[in-house]
Amino acid sequence: MENICVIGLGYIGLPTAAVFARAGCSVLGVDINSNIVSTLNQGLVHIEEAGLNDIVSKAVQSGKLRAATKPASSDVYIIAVPTPIHEDFSANVDAVVSAAQSILPYLEKGNIVIVESTIPPGTIQHVIAPIFEKAGWDPGNNDIYLSYCPERVLPGKILYELINNTRIVGGYTREAALEAAEIYKLVVKGAVIETGAPAAEMAKLMENTFRDVNIALANELAKISKALNVNAHEVIELANKHPRVNIHQPGPGVGGHCLAVDPYFIVEKAADQAQLIKLAREINQSMPSFVARHVEFLVSELRRPKVALLGLAYKGNSDDCRESPAIKVYRLLKELKGLQISVYEPFVNQEKVNINLVQLKEALSDAHLAVVLTDHKEFKQLDSRIFIENMKTPVIFDTKNCINIKNDEVKIYKIGDLNGIETINESFAHSKPIKKNISLKYTINEKKVNNIYK
Ligand SMILES: NC(=O)c1ccc[n+]([C@@H]2O[C@H](COP(=O)([O-])OP(=O)(O)OC[C@H]3O[C@@H](n4cnc5c(N)ncnc54)[C@H](O)[C@@H]3O)[C@@H](O)[C@H]2O)c1
Repeated sequence: MENICVIGLGYIGLPTAAVFARAGCSVLGVDINSNIVSTLNQGLVHIEEAGLNDIVSKAVQSGKLRAATKPASSDVYIIAVPTPIHEDFSANVDAVVSAAQSILPYLEKGNIVIVESTIPPGTIQHVIAPIFEKAGWDPGNNDIYLSYCPERVLPGKILYELINNTRIVGGYTREAALEAAEIYKLVVKGAVIETGAPAAEMAKLMENTFRDVNIALANELAKISKALNVNAHEVIELANKHPRVNIHQPGPGVGGHCLAVDPYFIVEKAADQAQLIKLAREINQSMPSFVARHVEFLVSELRRPKVALLGLAYKGNSDDCRESPAIKVYRLLKELKGLQISVYEPFVNQEKVNINLVQLKEALSDAHLAVVLTDHKEFKQLDSRIFIENMKTPVIFDTKNCINIKNDEVKIYKIGDLNGIETINESFAHSKPIKKNISLKYTINEKKVNNIYK
């Protein structure tokens, strides 16, 4: 069985290392973060992922998986380090470069090097191969086998999808693709498809771009629906009865480090051509401010408005706040002078986000408006009573279309159905405003807020 060195022990690298160790490979996990390394060497995990604890602890106990801060001599090197974006939305591949450089002292003829990190088109050819060439290797002639093999797992189902999804193996050469495919076949039950690195790089980016563009279309529909006085949710339901139509759901924006990031990798390399992709990003980036402006409108008649935000994670039942539109909404609302904000988020550790979190009842207590920003299962099951009993005015702005309450005592606005939206009045949510209070001052600098989370 192979010796495998997995560089980067995050959401992708750690499950990958564990799955290869379970299959009998001898795996060294490498991370520059020494806390992660010592946690793993104790058989523990530092990330939330269903089933991961169990498989990691067994792999460490069996001696098949261990961790270090530096690579060691191996047959296969798998690079799974982060590829975020810079403030100007260009790709930051520094970690991939540094991971590739870190294996140079250990490389031997016939080794297999696989990049799993999501990278801009052309990165294998123009950035990664030259690192090995400068060190005297010739991956174009297969003295080492270099490939790009993207990941497409769903957080929460990573262990299942790592094994069962179809894998694309993009070789720098044909032989490199064949060699990398043999490695994945040790653990993957789904199809393993060999191709060239450029097609694999672009396929990975287009998967996430497809989703980003479709969400942008739904978000644009949400804005149009208000202008044209129709209900976007009804429109989507009706249109999706067409056998070949699948309009996505509108929401407060797009988060996570994939959908909200990967399309920029294409825009960076083909700025003139990638018009639709760029526009989709702009539409999705505009949604937190669309939400914040409606919150501002809803509470604008109140003397001392209190808004409860429900959810910060970008995804339901997850603690992942990377690029989360909910956090952008929070930052935008913080700019509103005179607005009291409380936040309830059952999955997230408050130190991670540096935002004060409270229990649900405390968040709703005396609030005029509850804004649902994440579709956690718990929110879908909330009863009308908790809003009626705790809030000053039981009004909900559901940006995820996930609240299941049918009680006229609670007023619910949905992001795709904001027709007839009225400012909240102290005495009763539905009644007309009595007097204008202009204590709120909208001073949001959208660019600044977006950049905080790049
Ligand atoms: N998480 C997902 O669902 C997912 C899905 C598909 C693709 N990807 C891509 O996979 C890559 C990794 O993502 P992730 O979510 O696992 O990231 P992550 O942030 O969870 O983990 C990356 C790990 O790499 C470590 N690291 C950084 N630089 C290093 C270096 N030079 N040497 C060794 N370790 C280093 C970090 O300390 C961190 O622990 C990214 O390119 C991402 O876009 C992620």
